[in-house]
Amino acid sequence: MASKYVMNKLLGVYIMARKPIIAGNWKMNNNKAESKALIEELLPLVKDAQCDVVICTPFTDLWTAVDLTKGSNIHVGAQNVHWAEKGAFTGEISAKMLVELGVEYVIIGHSERRQYFGETDATVNARVKAALAAGLKPIICVGETLEEREAGKVEEVLVRQTKGALADLSKDDIDNFVIAYEPVWAIGTGRTATADVANDTIAIIRRTLGEIFCPKCAERIRIQYGGSMNPKNVKELMAQPEIDGGLIGGASLKAVDFSQVVNY
Ligand code: PGA
Repeated sequence: MASKYVMNKLLGVYIMARKPIIAGNWKMNNNKAESKALIEELLPLVKDAQCDVVICTPFTDLWTAVDLTKGSNIHVGAQNVHWAEKGAFTGEISAKMLVELGVEYVIIGHSERRQYFGETDATVNARVKAALAAGLKPIICVGETLEEREAGKVEEVLVRQTKGALADLSKDDIDNFVIAYEPVWAIGTGRTATADVANDTIAIIRRTLGEIFCPKCAERIRIQYGGSMNPKNVKELMAQPEIDGGLIGGASLKAVDFSQVVNY
């Protein structure tokens, strides 16, 4: 039986060990009116979802998102957070500011931030620690480039990124963050990692989590797949024992598509 399930001895049935989590990453899309329309369309479509549902909007849409989703099953996330509590960091947003707004999740270390904005394993780690300390739930992104995959460096890269992102964390933190495995070559390209490849690669990450915390701890940590996940391929990906959810870019910008992923 897949590791995603555990036997409940009392009931004599297998139950989910990790609740799936599907998060939309809107990236730099949607103004206030577009956000409002998308969320209003989405609310009834995902209300019976069996997974945790998150939408990560631009900073400027967070207030609208928090306001419109109050009392619903949609949780709101940001796409970045600074590590300092406050101070002279022009253009940055602190974890406390997000928490005060009602934001619950934050994407940290997305490959676009690593590629275009100088994000490193050390800055990812600093942001993760600040987010956790403020009570935010980080969605921590890791993933190799095509070049790294072709050079046989997948394991080396993922172990480095995972250990780097989680440095100094303790076992008390393991229920409060999510890992998103996003192979860079699959993001926005329409090229999805096959379910097998995604599953096997996530297994490497879970093994690493076992080394960092403990093997049993690793069984509790949710790991998403991200990269061109959509209504067509979600079922096959989510059927994999190691895949606990998805981080969805393009398909999260259309209510019907995102709801089909959420209700896979
Ligand atoms: P995509 O983006 O679904 O458009 O490939 C995923 C992401 O970048 O998080």
